[in-house]
Amino acid sequence: MTKVITYGTFDLLHQGHLNLLKRARELGDYLIVGVTSDSYDRGRGKLNVRNNVLERVAAVRATGYADEIIIEDYLGQKIDDIQKYNVDIFAIGSDWEGKFDYLGEYCKVVYLPRTEGISSTMLRNEGMKSIRIGIIGSGRIAARFVPESKVVSGALVTAVLNPDPVESQRFADSFGLKACTDFDDFIAEVDAVYIASPHMTHYDYAYRSLSCGKHVLCEIPMVLQKEQAVGLFGMAAERGLVLMEAGKTAFFPAFGHIVTLVKSGIVGDVVDVKTSLSKQVLPPTRELDYAQAGGAMTEHAPLNLMAIFKLLGLDWSGIRFHTRMENGVDVYTKGEIDYPHATASFTLGIGVKTEGNLIVSGTKGYVYVPAPWWLTDFFEVRYEDQTRNRKFFYSYDGQGLRYELQEFLSMIVNGRRNCYKLTPAESIAAAEIIEKFRNNENVTVI
Ligand code: CTP
Repeated sequence: MTKVITYGTFDLLHQGHLNLLKRARELGDYLIVGVTSDSYDRGRGKLNVRNNVLERVAAVRATGYADEIIIEDYLGQKIDDIQKYNVDIFAIGSDWEGKFDYLGEYCKVVYLPRTEGISSTMLRNEGMKSIRIGIIGSGRIAARFVPESKVVSGALVTAVLNPDPVESQRFADSFGLKACTDFDDFIAEVDAVYIASPHMTHYDYAYRSLSCGKHVLCEIPMVLQKEQAVGLFGMAAERGLVLMEAGKTAFFPAFGHIVTLVKSGIVGDVVDVKTSLSKQVLPPTRELDYAQAGGAMTEHAPLNLMAIFKLLGLDWSGIRFHTRMENGVDVYTKGEIDYPHATASFTLGIGVKTEGNLIVSGTKGYVYVPAPWWLTDFFEVRYEDQTRNRKFFYSYDGQGLRYELQEFLSMIVNGRRNCYKLTPAESIAAAEIIEKFRNNENVTVI
């Protein structure tokens, strides 16, 4: 019996897939089809897949060509599968010509002719109306956002708003956008906005954008007061709009995996979460400017609080801060949060340097995420018995902003209005803690 194996995502199953599967089946007597898992696709930067793995498996099964369907979940799995299933022929479309020659050591490799004129990418783009996104602000993060948007299907950045005409034009020219200096002109051009302007302007821009019926993705810290966050989320819900805080790490596949592993009890009961993040900056810069709400707390608390909330929840009962101030700005802040059965702390610096790692301590072991933990691509689960330690590796592509944008767009396009990766309640709690700090509640200056 000749066994054939082939792999693919098989999203929005189309004629090209059918032809490929038929030809692969005809190469032998038994066809195994490997369908990529959702997490594997996300991990390799394929973020726009429409059908989930169950739907894609069902579609492949319905073709009647597959004798067996397996899930492809990790890099290097093809070699394992070929040996495990005693495969004689590995077949794949000719768009992969040459890429799988290395499998020739294990079985025969056949590149089958690809069907011209159709692909899942084409179908995904066809049915999809692009969402026109306008960027408010033209600083460093805004400049990173535009290239990231190019890899998220359906995202089309069209305009930039900056009240300074020279700045607006400079940014627009470098990315081929429409330059706007007036909010009303700008908002008429877009379906959604990405707010990347100075912190103090976020609330006003978010409020005005939601009032105009536009979806909002807002950089961290979304706002600096709890009531403002409550108000904005209420407004978005009332109007059926998406409002999301751009806490990028929350949307990374690796970070999501840490949370699910911890919640599954891999380190036992969580007793302590410790996060740190320091980025030293030199004046003159917005981060060190009191008038622009600079400081370690406003810069870095949102991501660190997000990690704590994701791992320990929102039923915290108290918080204390120790801080070092320079010119009215906290250059270092350490916060300690009480939970009924756990503790958490965050150490933040813009004028103090520290190791930026994340440690989740439990009754059975701990998770160690080395610096920079907020760009998670690797973490380790460690135990007293070191032979049980496990390392997890991920890749995240580009600047990491594509994941939050992908989620934002998917919510808009699919009419989904809740996002478990970063919930309104978590954003509201982060604003509350930032507000407490700014109001000097339980703050000890060192
Ligand atoms: N395939 C094909 N002809 C097409 C499209 C795909 O023969 N027009 C083949 C691929 O070469 C591969 C298999 O179908 O062997 C599964 O490919 P997959 O990546 O799922 O399909 P695409 O349509 O190419 O998807 P995408 O656009 O997301 O890359």
